[in-house]
Amino acid sequence: MNRNTNTVVVGSAGMLGADLVEALKCAGLKTVALGRSEMDITSPESVRSALGAIAAPGLVINCAAYTAVDKAESEPRAAFAANRDGPANLADECRKLEIPLIHISTDYVFDGKFSRPYQEEDGVNPINVYGLSKLKGEEAVRSRLDQHIIIRTSWLYGAGGRNFVKTILKLGLERDELKVVSDQHGCPTWSLELATGLVRIAEWVQSDLKKTLWGTYHFCGKGETSWYEFALAILHEAQKRQARRGGVARLSPIATSEYPTAAARPMYSVLDCAKIRAAFGVERVSWESSLARLMGGLLGAPQ
Ligand SMILES: NC(=O)c1ccc[n+]([C@@H]2O[C@H](COP(=O)([O-])OP(=O)(O)OC[C@H]3O[C@@H](n4cnc5c(N)ncnc54)[C@H](OP(=O)(O)O)[C@@H]3O)[C@@H](O)[C@H]2O)c1
Repeated sequence: MNRNTNTVVVGSAGMLGADLVEALKCAGLKTVALGRSEMDITSPESVRSALGAIAAPGLVINCAAYTAVDKAESEPRAAFAANRDGPANLADECRKLEIPLIHISTDYVFDGKFSRPYQEEDGVNPINVYGLSKLKGEEAVRSRLDQHIIIRTSWLYGAGGRNFVKTILKLGLERDELKVVSDQHGCPTWSLELATGLVRIAEWVQSDLKKTLWGTYHFCGKGETSWYEFALAILHEAQKRQARRGGVARLSPIATSEYPTAAARPMYSVLDCAKIRAAFGVERVSWESSLARLMGGLLGAPQ
């Protein structure tokens, strides 16, 4: 393992980026964290100068993205700049520096019409602007840099930033009743669990470039659920911790058609994660136990 090179985390202030920086440091890897003020991935010059200023970069991990799924419908230029041009700029620079790139992508590259978990080679067909912009980012990386790993993940939540868990927790403690979509199915993924998997892959890549199996992989929490069942589990965890005197909000399941959003969502986006386990030994934890661990961190131990 070459512990003298730096692992560079791009988008280090985001939900995943922040967890990844902590996880890399805990594992003893030399880490450089770049937020948007240190590197704007939409600018080739910014990417060049920020990477050029780092001594011995050994690997870049891109967690930066435009992630406002609904807003992307009315801001396609901004979405494509960050999600297509950004990864293209990073891949170009990594190729010049002869270092690998790990890039994070999404389940939203699929249209959600399957009824079995999506494998990496299944046909893509995004149904919203965000998904299309992320797909173009994948293609940009693949066409520019052989030494790449693209990891598609789904339904990400964590301690930092805005996400479904924190929204349901907030609303569930403020209101008496909540309606949540019950006919979309997927896999919730704790950002810290993904970060832990990324550390394992980073160690693998830096220990033996020649044996690394480059390509596209899926990673998400184990097990599948609906947004409604996920919300039930969040509020159950909150209740166990007596987060509100008198209990939490009552939940009602609703159909997607009753909750119109600017961007269409895939109805089913469960990811098959066998490939990443076989290639890198990355294990997964059930989404329920990951959620319980995060909730313990947010609200404390059950009463
Ligand atoms: N969240 C999910 O449910 C989900 C699901 C599947 C896949 N993913 C993917 O997982 C990855 C991490 O997502 P996340 O939820 O951690 O996202 P996030 O919390 O929104 O963080 C993204 C970060 O990227 C930064 N960024 C945006 N544009 C940039 C630019 N031009 N240059 C440099 N930095 C820029 C943002 O900075 P500002 O805050 O300044 O904008 C933010 O710090 C992304 O690739 C995302 O597409 C997310």
